Amino acid sequence: MRVLVYPGSFDPVTNGHMDIIERAAKICDKLIVAVLVNHSKAPVFTMEERTMFLKMAIGDRENIEVRSFSGLLVDFMKSVNAKTIIKGLRAVSDFEYEMQMALLNRNMDQEIDTLFMMTSINNCFLSSSVVKELARNGARIEDYVPHAIAPYIYEKFKKAGG
Ligand code: PNS
Repeated sequence: MRVLVYPGSFDPVTNGHMDIIERAAKICDKLIVAVLVNHSKAPVFTMEERTMFLKMAIGDRENIEVRSFSGLLVDFMKSVNAKTIIKGLRAVSDFEYEMQMALLNRNMDQEIDTLFMMTSINNCFLSSSVVKELARNGARIEDYVPHAIAPYIYEKFKKAGG
């Protein structure tokens, strides 16, 4: 069985992530979307919120699972018995960081490989940071995130006082 793991901080999930999820699910038997901690970023949403948003956006899908994990990605890979990571690439600016991660992960576990999928052209400008910036300032985010989660994002910034 071909299992792919799509890791990320998903703070929050965007339509760009959803595009990769949909396309990745087509080329494997099982896709595990893994919500992890990126220690170089302070998240706005809790791990529980980020996981819930993904579950709401994905719905009930036979071959897609959403999990969360707070250690190293390579340890998560072992815990689910998977060997292949899939990540999305938007632009050259993503490449250096993603290459570092891919090499580092393979250095820690020789059996692990990372595949990259290019974003769809209409999502290449989109990021979780952009969505947060728009929502924080009261601009429309409905075109950029799954419909069901937009109200939760606005609510968070309202509570936090903008
Ligand atoms: O969506 P992001 O923020 O680009 O995702 C990065 C993420 C969460 C996949 C990466 O930070 C990660 O793998 N975190 C888990 C800890 C880990 O394994 N770090 C890499 C070795 S230092």
